[in-house]
Amino acid sequence: MRYLGLKIFAGLIILVAALFIWKWNTWFKKYPEADYICPNSPNRIIQSLGANADYDRAISWRCDSVPHKSFLELYDVENGVKKILPAKHKKVSTMGGKNVFYRVDLKNLQAKNYKYRVQTGDKYSKWYKLSLNKVNNKVRFAYLGDIQDLVGGVSDTIFRHINRRFPKLDFWMFGGDCVERPMDKYWNEFILAGDSIFQNKPVIACTGNHEYIKALFKILDKRWKYYWPLPKNGAKLFKGRVAHWEIEDACIVSLDTDGVQGLATYFSQYYWAKRIFKETDKKWKIIFMHHPIKSAGKGRSTIIMSTLFANMLEEMKVDLILQGHDHSYSRYITKEDGKLSTPVYVESSCSRKFYDVVIDEEADRLGSSIKLFQILDISKDTLQYKSYKLNDEIYDSFKIIKTDKGIKVIDENPKTKEHLVPTHRIKRKKTKLEEYLKEASNRNKLKYSL
Ligand SMILES: [Fe+2]
Repeated sequence: MRYLGLKIFAGLIILVAALFIWKWNTWFKKYPEADYICPNSPNRIIQSLGANADYDRAISWRCDSVPHKSFLELYDVENGVKKILPAKHKKVSTMGGKNVFYRVDLKNLQAKNYKYRVQTGDKYSKWYKLSLNKVNNKVRFAYLGDIQDLVGGVSDTIFRHINRRFPKLDFWMFGGDCVERPMDKYWNEFILAGDSIFQNKPVIACTGNHEYIKALFKILDKRWKYYWPLPKNGAKLFKGRVAHWEIEDACIVSLDTDGVQGLATYFSQYYWAKRIFKETDKKWKIIFMHHPIKSAGKGRSTIIMSTLFANMLEEMKVDLILQGHDHSYSRYITKEDGKLSTPVYVESSCSRKFYDVVIDEEADRLGSSIKLFQILDISKDTLQYKSYKLNDEIYDSFKIIKTDKGIKVIDENPKTKEHLVPTHRIKRKKTKLEEYLKEASNRNKLKYSL
């Protein structure tokens, strides 16, 4: 008996050691960052929403490796009034170089149309537009999951396409993994892809695992919270990394799912998000995060999020959960006694990387090897969700209607065949590929009579 115990213990040690050897690069390998020099004129300017997003904005930029006096000039186009506001700065050194980041918070903006430019030392940026929504009960925004583009990639084409096709977006939302790795060249790729968009339209984001530096306890890239000037209303251990916004009749919360590395970090975000949703008087409750709570990704569900957290969000009557990380598409509408209800769970990706999906019968819509973007319209009683392929074809659609009579969820599934093209990972194994193709074909035959 004693020896059996020892054998089991030794077996476990060998298994853990093998797991560490197998996953070492994935979990721990740090890649060196190439040297870079931060230009000495304002660059990588980002306009973001403030906490009370009907009136507040925040602007961030980067300039040089040493601080200079910096300002933001705000011009009220309607009233012809100009203000000059001082910027706060933060020196941020990374493996490859030094940056100084600047930030100005603009609060209680009463006009609808402004212009702004930023100044560091004697260098000025161009003038950009800053518009506030001020259309009662109507908000339109884009949601994009992972981007993770390579240098010289295609995300600039995608962003410009969305901007041209939907010019009246109130803001953009990114679900983490905006960059391939926490390195200057990838930040450059992402922010340059959004050049002239991110300066003229507010953008918000949550963290993703690719923005973390690998270690036993992973660390968020120091630059992250200076690129994204989030309102400082986040969970206690996550100030500047998670936030909540109110815009028209919507309350939006972001999570830092990769920051959940222990009980303290888990419950810090759990109780904070619960309180925000409990206290808000806004009609629409939306949360976005990187790692999914509900996933059709093969072996990628995160138990730590899909247990207590999911229950809390259902209890708080959250309408919509926007997720990323899985490089595939899935949409699940909650079913209560056979009736469609909330929350609705969506995971989506706009990355060149594709991962496998499980052909899950419970999923209302699935997608594999497909890049999608989402446009959401919130009006008084209705949240309209549409997911688009890059050729503008609607890939998925649903509606949540909320009135005094209750909540009605309408599945507007376009009834076109699901894009379930196998990834290169499945193609490597013949039996797996055959099994997958059979399941995918049966699903499409059953669901769409194809
Ligand atoms: Fe990810």
